[in-house]
Amino acid sequence: MMKRILITSGAEAIKNKMKFKKKILCIGAGYVGGPSMAMIAYKCPDYRITVVDTNPDRIDAWNSAQLPVYEPGLDKIVKKTRGKNLFFSKDIENQIKENDIIFVSVNTPIKTYGAGADMAADLQYWEKTARQILKHSRSSKIVIEKSTLPVKTALAMGKILASAKGKIKFEILSNPEFMAEGTAVNDLENPDRVLIGSHETKSGLKARAELIEIYARWIPLKKIITSNIWSSELSKLVANAFLAQRVSSINSISALCEKTDADITEVAKAVGMDSRIGDKFLNAGIGFGGSCFKKDMLNLVYLCSYYGLQEVAAYWKSVVNINEYQQERFIANILNRMFGTLAGKKICILGFAFKANTGDTRESPAIYISQKLLAEHAQVIISDPKALKNAAIDLEGTKGNVKYIEDPYRAAAGCHALVILTDWDLYRTLDFRKIYSSMVKPAFIFDGRNIIDHKKCFAIGFNVYPIGKPALSHFKN
Ligand code: NAD
Ligand code: UGA
Repeated sequence: MMKRILITSGAEAIKNKMKFKKKILCIGAGYVGGPSMAMIAYKCPDYRITVVDTNPDRIDAWNSAQLPVYEPGLDKIVKKTRGKNLFFSKDIENQIKENDIIFVSVNTPIKTYGAGADMAADLQYWEKTARQILKHSRSSKIVIEKSTLPVKTALAMGKILASAKGKIKFEILSNPEFMAEGTAVNDLENPDRVLIGSHETKSGLKARAELIEIYARWIPLKKIITSNIWSSELSKLVANAFLAQRVSSINSISALCEKTDADITEVAKAVGMDSRIGDKFLNAGIGFGGSCFKKDMLNLVYLCSYYGLQEVAAYWKSVVNINEYQQERFIANILNRMFGTLAGKKICILGFAFKANTGDTRESPAIYISQKLLAEHAQVIISDPKALKNAAIDLEGTKGNVKYIEDPYRAAAGCHALVILTDWDLYRTLDFRKIYSSMVKPAFIFDGRNIIDHKKCFAIGFNVYPIGKPALSHFKN
């Protein structure tokens, strides 16, 4: 049973409502809606923030001791604000009526059907939200796009909301979120920039100023940048595209390193020290995962094709292609190095989350890699400090022998190979001597994140296969 937290009595809630300077609603209590609103509540104690969602379990979890997303530092902020000026509610209808500023942070996954299937953004949740706002509003409001959306979405939203009766007016702003999972609290507290796009009309600029006022409570004004609404929508997609492109660029070179005895870490260091290039996002690995990079890239590709820019579409599509190639390469390497067969072999997967410091497994490369190993009839033992519940959901229905063991030492015991798929710090400091002694020999390590000391593990007795570096093998030839 989840421990429920008593929030406020009815009388207290009414009193609270009276005293707040601004009343802000966020529709969508997910990875973005929850943390970003918690940060506003934390920094602006005189604003009342309410977060609603159609999923009642999510709201219950936000109101419990076990938050629905794992994010370092988030518990502390939620504890300080929940029940004071931060509320999680299932009453979408009344909350729309009561609040003047509405952030929309619903999911925008890839469309799986009809025109644009597997490429375009599925805007059904977005449009439903617009219609809900229209139906329940009794006064004018500022509606803020926080979800990542195709450029020109605000146009469609504007058309829906413009059908409001009487004097009710809606002003639409674009305020894309740039936080990354695992570092969300720091990203929200000290963002590189906050982007606010608005129509450049009198009412648009007034709404823009109102949103600036919120962020200016803790973010220096020089970091709050403004633009027209279409630039803002597009900048979000482009920022993710540039980040994903860097990952694919370094991964493509990791393949060349493996053919030439160059070392990808050394190459990345030499290249990244050029201040024009920069040293971030140059870690080669098993490819990017996460709920956004792939969908946003495909959405960008779709938009380019839609506007007849086939060459531009092909350029960005290649970033996704390299990402898939990198995973295939990694799987083929495991199979080839383990003598062409995995049938009956036990393989321990260290890390299932798409990156460290999150329990999120959406689009995690670990899903596809595990499925491929199971298809080769390997027995797969999955270990992860935060993502085992999601891993079990992701692999539900996949045929084969799969176990979930949180303790990496127990997970590795009796295995033929370790496959590191998430860059959790805890894997850097494992006692590999102890693990080696519990494994079947010859023992293999495939380090899909280049995070462990390869030479040390080789000296212990492992055959070590990093990404983009020479293999360290005890086999002759
Ligand atoms: P999520 O799936 O975790 O959360 C979305 C929530 O919206 C869900 O809980 C869903 O139940 C709810 N919802 C859907 N339709 C609704 C409706 N009509 N009314 C009320 N609630 C509704 O998604 P997320 O990861 O928070 O992402 C949200 C958006 O933010 C996406 O567009 C994503 O691309 C973007 N984004 C995500 C991240 C990230 O790190 N996850 C970062 C930046 C931007
Ligand atoms: C990314 C962006 O970094 C955020 O700015 C953006 O707001 C967010 O997407 C979004 O729109 O959802 P996120 O996906 O949470 O954030 O995490 P990242 O740190 O960007 O990592 C994405 C993937 O790339 C992970 O699988 C990570 O392991 C991989 N990666 C990242 C690498 O393989 N190498 C690197 O050098 C960096």
